[in-house]
Amino acid sequence: MKKVILAVMVATLPIACATTEAPPPVSASEKKALTIEGKEIIMEFAKTLVGHVKKGMKNGGPVKTIAVCNKVAPSVAADLSEKYGVKLGRTSLKLRNPDNAPDAWEKSVLMKFEKRKAAGENVKKLAYSEVVVEGGKQYFRMMKAIPTAKKPCLMCHGGKVKPGIEAKLGKLYPNDKARGYKAGDIRGAFTLKQEL
Ligand code: HEC
Repeated sequence: MKKVILAVMVATLPIACATTEAPPPVSASEKKALTIEGKEIIMEFAKTLVGHVKKGMKNGGPVKTIAVCNKVAPSVAADLSEKYGVKLGRTSLKLRNPDNAPDAWEKSVLMKFEKRKAAGENVKKLAYSEVVVEGGKQYFRMMKAIPTAKKPCLMCHGGKVKPGIEAKLGKLYPNDKARGYKAGDIRGAFTLKQEL
């Protein structure tokens, strides 16, 4: 009899382990706190980038600022990611830098943002967050849309780009898709991923 019980226990052990290892659910208040913190980190990222772009434009003009975007944007993302223990970045459905390509979750959120914009939502306020399980690990994920402003965005992302800028962009980004934007379009989104 004992042997039978033991056999049953051993047989069910992996199932028991699998269920106890499932990530604990995240409460509504925890998610709210994560969302507030995520928004703050994204705001810091946005402000730091704008600061660098403004400084670049003042000191060297748009062509030099392209180099700032090229070098500084990824390093600011890396620094803040380390500071807050998250993964931060920028992504888009029409990319300039292929390193910023969205994963499946990000792509679906970007597509939902386009639908929400078409339904009349304010692009400046478009945001989405969710707790997801990927590869057995639980993550808090969040995205915030980046609106296209007339100035300075269209200078480098608009339909008509000045020859000097064109030449520099062509050199650095031969597959540049981040063109032809109009003021008010969704240029892309900030994206944050945090393991829980
Ligand atoms: C001086 C030129 C310049 C200006 C002005 C500029 N950008 Fe960019 N933008 C770039 C470059 C260069 C990259 C590629 C950066 C990289 O390599 O990661 C880029 C990349 C991006 C990305 C990341 C996704 C992608 O396509 O790779 C977003 C989002 C973005 N820009 C939004 C904006 C917005 C919004 C504005 C206006 C506030 C703006 N940019 C103004 C040059 C510019």
